Amino acid sequence: MTMQKPAARPDNPRFSSGPCAKPPTWTPDVLADAPLGRSHRAPVGKAKLKAAIDGTREILGIPEDYRIGIVPASDTGAVEMALWSLLGDRPVQMVAWESFGAGWVTDVVKQLKIDATTHTADYGEIVDMAALDYDKDVVFTWNGTTSGVCVPTGDMIPAERDGLTICDATSAAFAQDLPWDKLDVTTFSWQKVMGGEAAHGMLILSPRAVARLESYTPAWPLPKIFRLTKGGKLIEGIFEGATINTPSMLCVEDYLFALDWARSVGGLDGLRMRADANAQAVWNFCATRDWIDNLARDRATWSNTSVCLKFTDDRITDSAAFAKAVAKRLEAEGVALDIGAYRDAPAGLRIWCGATVETSDIEAMLPWLDWAFHAELAA
Ligand SMILES: Cc1ncc(COP(=O)(O)O)c(C=O)c1O
Repeated sequence: MTMQKPAARPDNPRFSSGPCAKPPTWTPDVLADAPLGRSHRAPVGKAKLKAAIDGTREILGIPEDYRIGIVPASDTGAVEMALWSLLGDRPVQMVAWESFGAGWVTDVVKQLKIDATTHTADYGEIVDMAALDYDKDVVFTWNGTTSGVCVPTGDMIPAERDGLTICDATSAAFAQDLPWDKLDVTTFSWQKVMGGEAAHGMLILSPRAVARLESYTPAWPLPKIFRLTKGGKLIEGIFEGATINTPSMLCVEDYLFALDWARSVGGLDGLRMRADANAQAVWNFCATRDWIDNLARDRATWSNTSVCLKFTDDRITDSAAFAKAVAKRLEAEGVALDIGAYRDAPAGLRIWCGATVETSDIEAMLPWLDWAFHAELAA
């Protein structure tokens, strides 16, 4: 069956899973107030960095006694700082059900050479988080961006625990509820749900994580950009905007705009509802087609940000080539950019549904997916 091309197109075809679409009201003019050419340690720079920290706390509802730092090297930098600074004090459990989690396992087991127990599940599945021992340290990803599987709730993490929970929440923060009392280290990057710029990471520490930093010194050396303590004490300045090295004040301004935009759509609830509506539109589409399905299996684990899809039609012989060709058709039509599955993930598509994406754009794009599927099958 061949189909007519749909009449309507999304206004914004950007459905990449990172960097993600800018907030809908973004224009380059929103950066006009960036203190460019000024020191980030001048009062104006410090005030902007502090506002980024305070705004993060306000919108994400982070407790007052948790530290929030802006650190180098995006989410990866924030996770690495945590792993290298905190692990080694007590037994470690590594948890992975997709590519990014698997990367942290490699780091800990092969680079740090920690004798961790590793808990893994295939793409589409999730590890049983209730089966872990939270008196040991646990490293996990809240939302697996490459499989579209997320942790449904933090209920299985005991509030009273001896180990630390270290959570890569980069594609969950600002779209899913993060239970702060269950998370000792949380990281994310501005380039995801907020549509900010990459290269800057956020590191959020519970009082227990700080206590570990102040009581434990790893056996390995730490480069300057990982060092969070001096003389056995936390470097508090990092968590007040005195960054370890020079940040981009252009990116900070951009993040401050994103925080303002988040307030304008109703804060965390508003952001989550936008992501939910986007993901629901994709799920509804799949539910009414017998050739495409969510890669995530258990409904409770379906991500509302990185929705990963697989083609299920028997007539497809080479699923990787088919999915690539569909994504290419959509890109060539200018209706969906960057929606191929992650390079290490099963063949398929990945449609970013985070808060900066407009539901009307998802809805305008989906008929094109129908068209591209049938056109590719016919070809
Ligand atoms: C779950 C997860 N962790 C880590 C990263 C790496 O993020 P960054 O490139 O911001 O360091 C990504 C990026 O997509 C991710 O989705």
